[in-house]
Amino acid sequence: MKSDISQARLPAHVAVIMDGNGRWAKRRLMNRIKGHEKGSQTVRTIVSTCREIQIPFLTLYAFSTENWARPKSEVSALMHLLKKFLVSEQDEMMEKGICLKVLGQLERLPEDVRNQAEETMAATCHNHQMTLNLALSYGSRREITDAVQMVAKKIQAGELAVADISEQVVADHLYTAGMPDPDLVIRTSGEFRLSNFLLWQSAYAEIFVTHTLWPDFTKEEFIEILTNYQKRDRRFGKVECSMPSDGSPQ
Ligand code: FPP
Repeated sequence: MKSDISQARLPAHVAVIMDGNGRWAKRRLMNRIKGHEKGSQTVRTIVSTCREIQIPFLTLYAFSTENWARPKSEVSALMHLLKKFLVSEQDEMMEKGICLKVLGQLERLPEDVRNQAEETMAATCHNHQMTLNLALSYGSRREITDAVQMVAKKIQAGELAVADISEQVVADHLYTAGMPDPDLVIRTSGEFRLSNFLLWQSAYAEIFVTHTLWPDFTKEEFIEILTNYQKRDRRFGKVECSMPSDGSPQ
């Protein structure tokens, strides 16, 4: 089904907090892992919808630094699903020109998941139609802390002066360096929190919370949210909106 959405004022970057897999399963008296499995199907739907309607950047919060504290069985099921996704979607990413990036502490992932992530990133790195960021073992405070450390090291080495630290310098040391900030952050399952997700980058993002649980989230609801976004007046702290058609602040 081709999406019926105006190409004008489409967000350049959509970020999603995929929440509610556990509750989806619980309501059906199923193991939480079944919710994550169904959630993986929703991931495929939303990635292909973004590609279809030409949203250049999509970031999905797939596993937070805090998620390591979940029961071992759930963590390993999630890792298995992530690896399965990377393996099964690589051909499609090549066909559709999707470049995969992992945002987060890659070194904390189990070796087989890390190797697969590195392989898929290397295989897809010359694709330019869309970037799919998977936030894995991701935490925004960790990301900002790492950026501060990198900047401090450059100062220590005499490569940068304190007076040269600008917002751009900080942004250039985040995992998202070189990417546009998210225009739209969607959270499913009705929670009104950012949960340590893209805190710096979402400074001016439009936030949309839906009560739908992630496994039930559909292409149709996603398009509805995008249509709603297109109607919002983004002022970026100014009085009047003067947003160009690409949606970037002026
Ligand atoms: C939050 O739901 C979701 C997660 C912690 C994991 C998200 C993972 C997927 C959608 C599937 C695997 C990902 C990919 C990219 C293939 P929750 O478990 O916290 O739900 P709850 O709040 O209802 O318990």
